Amino acid sequence: MFTVFIVGTAGSGKTTLVSTFAEWLENNQYDVAIVNLDPAVEYVPYIPDIDIRDVVSARELMRKYKLGPNGSIIAAIDMLAVRAQEIKSQIMDIGANYVLIDTPGQMELFAFRSVGSVLINRLSMDRSAVVFVIDATQAQTPSGYVSSMLLALSTQFRFNMPQVNVLNKIDLLDRSVVDEILEWSEETDLLREALMSNQANKLEADLSVRLSDILTAIGTIPRPIPISAKTGEGLDALYRVLHNVYVGGSDYD
Ligand code: GTP
Repeated sequence: MFTVFIVGTAGSGKTTLVSTFAEWLENNQYDVAIVNLDPAVEYVPYIPDIDIRDVVSARELMRKYKLGPNGSIIAAIDMLAVRAQEIKSQIMDIGANYVLIDTPGQMELFAFRSVGSVLINRLSMDRSAVVFVIDATQAQTPSGYVSSMLLALSTQFRFNMPQVNVLNKIDLLDRSVVDEILEWSEETDLLREALMSNQANKLEADLSVRLSDILTAIGTIPRPIPISAKTGEGLDALYRVLHNVYVGGSDYD
C-alpha cells in the first residue's frame, strides 16, 4: 500500500489532481482508494472511499461552537489527529495499492501547525510520499516562482517525507513560459537574471534574489514535474517518479 498525500496552496488543483490521477491509475490497472481529508470542502469531483466530513465537518463546528471559517478548520484538524488511528485502520481495510489523500485547502492551517505533521505521520503507511502542487499561473513570475519553491521546501521540512513537486495548470500557459519556469529550477543564474530584471519593484527583486540564493545553497529541490490535472498531461511522468519513490529512491532528477 502506497499512500500519497496531495498538498498545496488553496486553489492549486489538489482535488482535481486527486480525481484525474485516481482515474489514470485505475486505467492502468491499479486499485485506488481516495481519502478526503479536507473538513471544509463543499464539493469534490470524485467519490471518496473515506470522507473526513463524515467524521467531522467544519461547517457543523462553525455552527455548534460559533467559530469562524479558519477556527473551525483548525478545530476539525485537531479532532482528526486524535482519531487518526481509526481512520488509518479504515484505510488499511480497503486494501488498495494506491491511497490518494486530498488535504485541506488552506494549507497553512494544516501544513504549518504541528498537528498537521502529526496527522500525516499517523496516517502514513510503510511507503508514503507527499505531492506538492504548485500553481503554474502563480509561479510564472520569477518572484512567484521563488515563493512557490519556498513553500514547497517548508512543506518538505515539515513533513520530512519523500516529496515530489508538480507544476500544475500548464494547459493555461504557453509552452515557452512553462519551459522558462523549468529552466529557473535548473539554471540558477537565469532565475537571478529574471529576478533582477524586475525594475518596477526593486525591494521585491532584492528580497527574491536573496531568497533564491538560500534555495540554491540548500540545493535539494528537484525540478518540478509539469502537469495538467485538468487534461491529464504529465500524469505518466508523475506516476514514474512516484514509482521510483516507492521502490526506494526519492530523487527524481
Ligand atoms: P482548495 O482545496 O479549495 O484549496 O482547492 P484545490 O487545491 O483542491 O483546487 P481545485 O482542484 O479545487 O482547483 C481549483 C480550480 O482550478 C478549479 O476551478 C479547477 O477546475 C482548476 N484547475 C485545477 N487544476 C487545473 C489544471 O490543471 N488546469 C486548469 N486549467 N484548471 C485547473
